[in-house]
Amino acid sequence: RAEAIVNDFEEKCATPIGKLRQVADAMMVEMHAGLASEGGSKLKMLISYVDSLPKGDEKGLFYALDLGGTNFRVIRVQLGGKERGVINQEAEEVSIPPHLMVGSSFELFDFIASEVARFVTSESEEYQLPAGRQRELGFTFSFPVRQTSLASGTLIKWTKGFSIEETVGEDVVSELTKAIERQGLDLRVAALVNDTVGTLAGGRYYDNDVVAAVILGTGTNAAYVERAHAIPKWHGLLPKSGEMVINMEWGNFRSSHLPLTEYDLSLDTESLNPGEQIFEKLISGMYLGEILRRVLLSLAEEASFFGDTVPPKLMVPFILRTPHMSSMHLDTSSDLRVVASKLKDILGISNTSFKTRKMIVKLCEIIAKRGARLSAAGIFGILKKQGRDVLATEKQRTVVALDGGLFEHYTTFRKILESTLAEMLGEEAASSVIIKHANDGSGIGAALIAAAHSQYLELDS
Ligand code: BG6
Ligand code: GLC
Repeated sequence: RAEAIVNDFEEKCATPIGKLRQVADAMMVEMHAGLASEGGSKLKMLISYVDSLPKGDEKGLFYALDLGGTNFRVIRVQLGGKERGVINQEAEEVSIPPHLMVGSSFELFDFIASEVARFVTSESEEYQLPAGRQRELGFTFSFPVRQTSLASGTLIKWTKGFSIEETVGEDVVSELTKAIERQGLDLRVAALVNDTVGTLAGGRYYDNDVVAAVILGTGTNAAYVERAHAIPKWHGLLPKSGEMVINMEWGNFRSSHLPLTEYDLSLDTESLNPGEQIFEKLISGMYLGEILRRVLLSLAEEASFFGDTVPPKLMVPFILRTPHMSSMHLDTSSDLRVVASKLKDILGISNTSFKTRKMIVKLCEIIAKRGARLSAAGIFGILKKQGRDVLATEKQRTVVALDGGLFEHYTTFRKILESTLAEMLGEEAASSVIIKHANDGSGIGAALIAAAHSQYLELDS
């Protein structure tokens, strides 16, 4: 019985290359629709107002704040222009108390601002700001935002584990600025960016050929460089560069080609945001472990997978995290003892047979493989939209910057993603496409964008 359930699940999760091509093509169609008009697609294709990416000549002391991943991060960087690059850089990470993710706007922004204030106060003499100047900050806010300028924008909706109704529709920069003022801190928010946009900017600073960025972490999303005249919904001036960075919000992508199972559907229904972020719920770190838990629960209930009774902890949503799943998946010991110890420590399940443990590894493989292959299809869709899925010249180099805990720590996931992308591109094009880990690139990226839009730019030039 158990085997039949696992096999059926495997079949429903299958992502043969033909299906991936359909997913990539559907992604492209939705990209066009989202660029054509506001509300034209599930893909919001948000205009970032970032129309030029870092050139390497940015100078001065800048701060960045990164909200929306597992941890909340504050960064300080001293930029030394073309010759000296990043002179000094420091970061601090704080995890967000879970109650603040579903509490009030006031409390959340107060918490952030107080951490920023604490960090700014610890600035040492190595960092230099000309006298009389205000400190400036790039705000990485990793949620869908309708921007009204580079440094303002309203929250469209929360995603991942956040849910604070009153913030929706509010300008998050003004919320942050008010909280900063309440701290008595003199700090100007110079730029508001999504983490994908920050990662793209951070990636470009170190490598000129970075044209897209993808986050695979708690959530998933992508940003890329689009030609401004290919954005019919953009009615502003044509930027000098002729380009605009688009935050796709691909987590909300949905298509009939996606291999959804009953487990995904019930996960969605019972989530904080039913009907939303379907692509994200198949791929990202917040959900993979939860999908596994749901399959295990049904095995326990329908096939007595763990004996006569259903282990009570298995009924607790989100108890099994993706990092647990990743370590079970990577278990290379001959008796699968990592699997055994995770089952015991997390779910209170002991005395499992080898066969049971092996089946669990197989489930990890099925779930991770589907997520990784779908991510590759998404990336392929972007490259196709950019005309970079084929090799135009021998010198062409296309770099995609990737970041996020899932990509960084789930080695198997990452390998499957890379090999699938190569498979989709074919040998020739694959030789010119590089996936690069942009470690915490979004923080530095936000600081760089703030630097490029500093109020003192003219004084310094
Ligand atoms: C970080 C980026 O490395 O990854 C953040 O700097 C991003 O901007 C984060 O939000 C996402 O990863 P996770 O796993 O923390 O959600
Ligand atoms: C979610 C957010 C998106 C973010 C992504 C990765 O999908 O909606 O804005 O980029 O997570 O952190």
